Amino acid sequence: MNLKSLIRDIPDFPKPGILFRDITTLLRDPEGLRYTIDIFTQKCIEAEIKADYIVGMESRGFIFASLLAYKLGSGFIPVRKRGKLPAAVHSIEYELEYGMDCLEVHQDALHPGSRILIVDDLIATGGTAKATAKLVQNIGCELVGFGFIIELRDLQGRKHLPDVPIISLIEY
Ligand code: PRP
Ligand code: ADE
Repeated sequence: MNLKSLIRDIPDFPKPGILFRDITTLLRDPEGLRYTIDIFTQKCIEAEIKADYIVGMESRGFIFASLLAYKLGSGFIPVRKRGKLPAAVHSIEYELEYGMDCLEVHQDALHPGSRILIVDDLIATGGTAKATAKLVQNIGCELVGFGFIIELRDLQGRKHLPDVPIISLIEY
């Protein structure tokens, strides 16, 4: 199946000069969605990634991280934007392809030694994934890999990430 054909390109969103890779067209395609998650799962198994928890980033990351957690038999932990989580949090500031933001995780969600796979829909500059990695590593978790549906190769996000397996399904 040609997954790239299910991604819609929107020029100049959310700012002039950004070519937005829209995954909503993939999500609404029943076969495309199933195939994406099946391939994602298979790649994690092939890479021998065994995670206690899949950590997914708000908001598009939640969709793929929770589907993958279901398939791999792991728990899902949300990393959210500032002020959204109700209990005590650990926070980290980070830079986006188009601005600054802050990510948070519940303090009692993760423990030293937990094996973590970080999953998001897309890696661009790598700022979000790098910040999330720092967040979980600061707690003493063991980072076992990263998984992305889309990788924007030109932005070289992966070179900012720790040396663990990095899976991506679609490259631009
Ligand atoms: C997007 C995307 C990734 C991040 C990638 O999220 O879902 O999380 O940007 O960019 P980076 O590699 O340069 O950090 P966004 O913050 O736009 O939030 P959203 O999922 O709520 O749309
Ligand atoms: N997040 C960061 N850069 C993006 C892009 N070009 N398309 C979709 N989501 C993004």
